[in-house]
Amino acid sequence: MKKQSAIIIACVLLMITSICVQANGQELHHKKGFVIEVNGEITDSVSVICNDIHYVPMRMIFEKMGAAVFFRSSDSQILALSRDGDIIRHTVGECSITVNDEVKEYECSSILENNTTYIPLDMLSVVLCPDEISFDNQKLKIQKYMFHSDYHKVIQDVMAMYRNSNFYPERFQKYINLHEKMPSLSMEEIVFRVNLGLDEPFYDNVTTIGQPYELFVLVNKYHRLPSNFEQYNLVPMSWEYTVNDGKQYLLAGVAYEKFTEMADAARQENLSMRVVSAYRTETYQNNLYNTKVRTTGKVNADRYSARPGFSEHQTGLAVDINSTRGSFEYTAEFRWLQEHAHEYGFILRYPKGKEWLTGYAYEPWHYRYIGVEAAQIIYEEGITYEEYYAKYVSINEFK
Ligand code: DAL
Ligand code: ZN
Repeated sequence: MKKQSAIIIACVLLMITSICVQANGQELHHKKGFVIEVNGEITDSVSVICNDIHYVPMRMIFEKMGAAVFFRSSDSQILALSRDGDIIRHTVGECSITVNDEVKEYECSSILENNTTYIPLDMLSVVLCPDEISFDNQKLKIQKYMFHSDYHKVIQDVMAMYRNSNFYPERFQKYINLHEKMPSLSMEEIVFRVNLGLDEPFYDNVTTIGQPYELFVLVNKYHRLPSNFEQYNLVPMSWEYTVNDGKQYLLAGVAYEKFTEMADAARQENLSMRVVSAYRTETYQNNLYNTKVRTTGKVNADRYSARPGFSEHQTGLAVDINSTRGSFEYTAEFRWLQEHAHEYGFILRYPKGKEWLTGYAYEPWHYRYIGVEAAQIIYEEGITYEEYYAKYVSINEFK
């Protein structure tokens, strides 16, 4: 009998506790209406209250306050561009938020509820600086007055581009800086130039290439090969396809196969295509560059020769055909290449009039293997590899 009542008491206690936890659980986490007023315009929305802390919907408030908001799904990062020109980053579920390069830490993390990210009120107040946060009858009200200066006009011009697929939010401040520096350029041109790195002088802001063995590798005055880089997939070229000067020329396997196909097709038309330069090591490129500097001066050397680490000859995907003299442009072989190189996956890498973009003077003899599909597009659109890369290869992770 005693045992039975003890069990009953225990059960009742358990039930009471579970009711408390439930009641407590509901108390811990509930939704509440709030208002946001921007320049007198009022919008109703919903916040989440959890452990007495107010969480507000990040995207909705940021957009109301004039920011553009992006999301990167690979690491759940939210990136917002404020109307004052700041880049704000926050990873969903973390306690920190970064404004430009400054990391700000908070006690509470953001929370995800029905696919909406809610941030604690104190995160919002430091990052976007509302003019007033008040509670009227316990109802939250966020107020902001947004004024316009000439600088805001510059930022707005840039922001107007943000839905364009070529717009990289990480480059926001670069777009703003170039727009301020060159106000006569269209915004499309600003975005294009920044995406290609052209807002910085050649060799000033250099990135080391992460995947140097990829066929689509872009090697130029902004992208260098790693210092220990060596192409492993090289094959010796048969003397029939080289100037046959006793040197052993090497080329990446895939490029060699297509080069021989191309040279054989040209041979059918009594044209001769022989490489005078193919794969180069970094040491070889270093000697070439230094010799060019010694003999013609640095300014001229930089127009025709890549610095060591910066030559696409080091990938084994580039060839110089027949000669490295300007007169090559006037040969039948050059004319044939102009019409047919793309059919074999080769492109004229440094075309006439594009030195400001490629970094090199016209080199009618230098061809890069890129694959038939890409070469075809480059040929049809009449673009350089830099432009093709920005348009088709580089990935815009923020949507
Ligand atoms: N002549 C080209 C630019 C090179 O040196 O790779
Ligand atoms: Zn070359």
